[in-house]
Amino acid sequence: MSNKFNWAILGCGNIANDFAREMNKMGGKVYSIANRTYEKAVAFAEKYSIEKIYENINDLFVDDNVDIVYIATPHNKHIEYILKALENGKHVLCEKAITLNSDELNKAVALANEKNLILAEAMTIYNMPLYTKLEKTINSGALGEFRLAQVNFGSFKEYDMTNRFFNMELAGGALLDIGVYALSLVRMFMETENAEIHSQVRFAETGADEQSSIIIKNDKEQMASVTLSLHAKQPKRATICYDNAYIEIFEYPRADKAVITYTNDNHTEEIVAGKLEDAMCYEIENMENAILNGKNTMRLQYTIDVMNVMTKLRNDWNMKYPEE
Ligand SMILES: NC(=O)c1ccc[n+]([C@@H]2O[C@H](COP(=O)([O-])OP(=O)(O)OC[C@H]3O[C@@H](n4cnc5c(N)ncnc54)[C@H](OP(=O)(O)O)[C@@H]3O)[C@@H](O)[C@H]2O)c1
Repeated sequence: MSNKFNWAILGCGNIANDFAREMNKMGGKVYSIANRTYEKAVAFAEKYSIEKIYENINDLFVDDNVDIVYIATPHNKHIEYILKALENGKHVLCEKAITLNSDELNKAVALANEKNLILAEAMTIYNMPLYTKLEKTINSGALGEFRLAQVNFGSFKEYDMTNRFFNMELAGGALLDIGVYALSLVRMFMETENAEIHSQVRFAETGADEQSSIIIKNDKEQMASVTLSLHAKQPKRATICYDNAYIEIFEYPRADKAVITYTNDNHTEEIVAGKLEDAMCYEIENMENAILNGKNTMRLQYTIDVMNVMTKLRNDWNMKYPEE
């Protein structure tokens, strides 16, 4: 790949490092970097051969050379930077969860539409080739009708109430951090958006959702159950069941393999596509293609639907972040 666009990165933490490394691996180059702590931006620029460093984050938005802003700060800082980027005519690829709630996201989507810009969430599931290949098998009708899905995601995070996972000041909690993956997967396989949602939640001392069980039904009576935890490891496993078969996917946020078991005779079929280590390359490529084609093919409607679910759940839990 050669760079078709000038990408600017905002933030230089864990995921921003992955992004810059992947961009370099693809033979491309990040154009510029901004970060709250300037010294870290300088070190980051050196590491990834980035030519431009801004002393002030706001300088990034008014740089005429920037085409796309990749936002990699904590979730509660996303909306401010998304709006600034869009207002200045930049396309935006923003880390998950794209915003804190639907009100914020609706504002961002309206502005992107008004300005004719591509806005997308950096959701690996929407970009891994495995899911595109699975969609073809599903659309062929071979599996029958979708019935239900069971999806888990659990990490063990130390009870350090100051880290971002449990810290309400940094939009902590399992739902926005890992639930967004499980719910995005569910949304991809369910034929319509969710109509009925019930849940149970356990809070950490800080008030962040530490653990939850969520059940979902849509207007076609298709169902899903999702189990999340931030203080108990769970396998990242998805089982997606149809009339004639079920699909199993391990490590589904970045997966390159799924196994379909056909239930009439229990024979299995392995579906393989893409490479785990290229997850961010697919996001970069798809984003550039969406811009080139002038059409948002980044599954933004799924992002909107998932944000609606997460907003409803937190309303049910009476859980609000300081910004809300
Ligand atoms: N897609 C994925 O696979 C994936 C994986 C991990 C994370 N993420 C998402 O990416 C985002 C960042 O996560 P991370 O793990 O990379 O975080 P991280 O390592 O803690 O890095 C956070 C970055 O944001 C900056 N930052 C923190 N608070 C800020 C504030 N109040 N204003 C402006 N900048 C601020 C930090 O700047 P300083 O250098 O000044 O501290 C740092 O550059 C989160 O939304 C997360 O959910 C996605």
